[in-house]
Amino acid sequence: MIHLENILLYRNGKTILRNITWSVEKAQHWAILGLNGSGKTTLLKVLNGYLWPNGGSIEVLGQTYGKVDIREIRKSIGWVSAAMIEEFDRRDPAIEIVLSGKYGAIRLFEKVKERDIQEGVAMLERFGIASLANREFEYLSAGERQRLQIARALMAKPEILILDEPCTGLDVIEREHLLQTMAQVAADGNITLLYVTHHVEEVLPCFSHVLLMREGEIFAQGERSELLTEQVLSNFFRHSLTIQYENDRAWLAIK
Ligand SMILES: Nc1ncnc2c1ncn2[C@@H]1O[C@H](COP(=O)(O)OP(=O)(O)OP(=O)(O)O)[C@@H](O)[C@H]1O
Ligand SMILES: [Mg+2]
Repeated sequence: MIHLENILLYRNGKTILRNITWSVEKAQHWAILGLNGSGKTTLLKVLNGYLWPNGGSIEVLGQTYGKVDIREIRKSIGWVSAAMIEEFDRRDPAIEIVLSGKYGAIRLFEKVKERDIQEGVAMLERFGIASLANREFEYLSAGERQRLQIARALMAKPEILILDEPCTGLDVIEREHLLQTMAQVAADGNITLLYVTHHVEEVLPCFSHVLLMREGEIFAQGERSELLTEQVLSNFFRHSLTIQYENDRAWLAIK
C-alpha cells in the first residue's frame, strides 16, 4: 500500500523528518504516536503529496511519486483532522458536507444526483447522525463534527484513511463512540487506517501496527503488542511509566 524509503525533509533551516523508511501492507492498520512536534502531521502530508521531501522516495498504491499525477492518488486517500474542520462553510447543512466528500470538494457546486443523496443519508446513518442531516455545521457539537468529517471522507471510498488526532476535544463517551465506529470501518475491510494520536488507550485492537515518532525520526515500528509495553514506551517518552491492559487496550500512567 505504502512504501517510504529514507525520507528527508527540511524547511527553513530545520530538519523535520529524517531517515524515514516505512512500509504499510494491505490489511494492516497503523497507529502513529509521538510528542508534539515530532513530525507526525508532516509525515502524513508527505504521504499525501502536500509536501515534497528533500530526499528519499515515496510509493503509494503501487505508484511512485514524481512519476504520476498526485491528484489521482489523492482521490484514494481520505484525510480527517481537527484542523480541517475550519475549512467547512459553517452554514452548510450536514448532508451537503457529507456529499461534498463524494465530489472531492469542500463545498458543493454541482447538482447532486438523487442516488448520491441516498448514499449520503446512509452514511450519516452509519455514523448515528442521520437526524442531523439538515442541521447547519455551525450548530453541530465537536463530536458530531468529527463523525461527520469521517463520514464525508468515506464517501469517496478511499483505500487509505488518514485520521490525524480525530478525538481531539471529545468527552470520554463521545470518544468511545468514535473509536468504536472507527473499529467498524477497519473491520469492513478494503481500507487501511493511519491513525495519529497522543493517547495510548486510543490504539484499539484493530490497529495491527504502531509507529513511534520522536524528533523527526522513527523511534520504533512494529506490531502493536510488541511496542505498547512499559519498557518501550518508557524509553520512548523518556519517562518512567506503567501500562495496564484492559479489553486488549493499553492504558498508560506516569510513575
Ligand atoms: N515549514 C516549516 N518550517 C519550519 N518548521 C516547520 C515547518 N513545518 C513544520 N515545522 C516544524 O516541524 C515540526 C514537526 O511538525 P508536525 O506538525 O509534523 O508535528 P506533529 O508531530 O504533528 O505535532 P502535533 O502532535 O503537535 O500535531 C514542528 O516542530 C514544526 O514547528
Ligand atoms: Mg500534528
